[in-house]
Amino acid sequence: MVTNDILYIGVDDKDIDLFEGQFVVPNGIAYNSYVILDNKIAVMDTVDKRKGAEYLANLEKALGGRLPDYLIVSHVEPDHASSVKLFLEKYPQAQLVGNAKTFQILAQYFDLSFDNALIVKEGDTLPLGKHELHFILTPMVHWPEVMFTYDSYDKVLFSADAFGKFGALDTKEDWTCEARRYYFNIVGKFGMPVQTVLKKAASLDIRIICPLHGPILSGDLSKYLDKYNIWSSYEPESEGVFIAYASLHGNTRDAVLALKEMLLSKGCPKVAVSDLARDDMAEALEDAFRYGKIVLAASSYNGGVMPFMEDFLHHLKGKNYQKRTVALVENGSWAPSANKAMTEILSQMKDITILDTPITLRGIMKEEDKKAFEALADKLCDS
Ligand code: FEO
Repeated sequence: MVTNDILYIGVDDKDIDLFEGQFVVPNGIAYNSYVILDNKIAVMDTVDKRKGAEYLANLEKALGGRLPDYLIVSHVEPDHASSVKLFLEKYPQAQLVGNAKTFQILAQYFDLSFDNALIVKEGDTLPLGKHELHFILTPMVHWPEVMFTYDSYDKVLFSADAFGKFGALDTKEDWTCEARRYYFNIVGKFGMPVQTVLKKAASLDIRIICPLHGPILSGDLSKYLDKYNIWSSYEPESEGVFIAYASLHGNTRDAVLALKEMLLSKGCPKVAVSDLARDDMAEALEDAFRYGKIVLAASSYNGGVMPFMEDFLHHLKGKNYQKRTVALVENGSWAPSANKAMTEILSQMKDITILDTPITLRGIMKEEDKKAFEALADKLCDS
């Protein structure tokens, strides 16, 4: 139960191997849905059809023999809307509610007629009885049709993907870590639209946030709003250095692990390290945004850079990576090429400062290399 009239009817998915076909979710994912019981009944989104039957059972139980009047479609992505057809087969009297883009995109997924749909615009309201729903269009958080709904009676914001996290609801873990990994990998590209939404939300009296993934948020909401403000403005969140490496034979790895110890011994508060060939790429991307300074260290390969690093940099570029200080380390036995290749991709990003102390290893880290790494550690601590 969210409030006296708002019930949770979502489902956990712990069978999924990759969310959106690409992200590992060791603790699964929740597809949230809610029902508002008033004179009229509104259902807030459906769930992924992978869990459609369980969802319909939850809904039927919550309805207690009544029938829903509206299905509000906040977001058409299939993890939320692929059960719309199932829903309408069971409750054909219900009216779909969305904006013009909602139905334009929904028609790409379902061979359905939307003649009876209620099309809403920014600022439109829908009275249910004592509850009144206010629609707030939030394009590109995360698709163009996304909209939030604010219930002015219980002061609940239904926030679509925003404020969601990876992890099933019975997972006992802090919100921040998996919300950050979710944010940067799913919504990270769209910082400006998120900033716009935060400004709209600032004018609302919000007591509870009901996202489409992860826990229902209540109590002191400033913690969540502050994180979203930092993340969407592309500002670093934590003091420290992130080292991402791709190492062919382990020599580049050994060098950056030595760099990590140098940084810590010089007082760097935190050094996070990711092996791009073995660790979760989504978490590496998250850490690249979390810290203000990053070290990219990679073997040269095919006249360029080892593919895991190339892939990582293209991921960062795709997510609008910006406002960071970057140090480069390459390894190459006869024709080092990684720093040039990494610089080329970094040059396509905004506000990236590349430190003027690039390091070239030739095989293992030698005594003279250690001096260069010490100097780099000093520079990273000072910058
Ligand atoms: Fe949870 Fe953008 O879908």
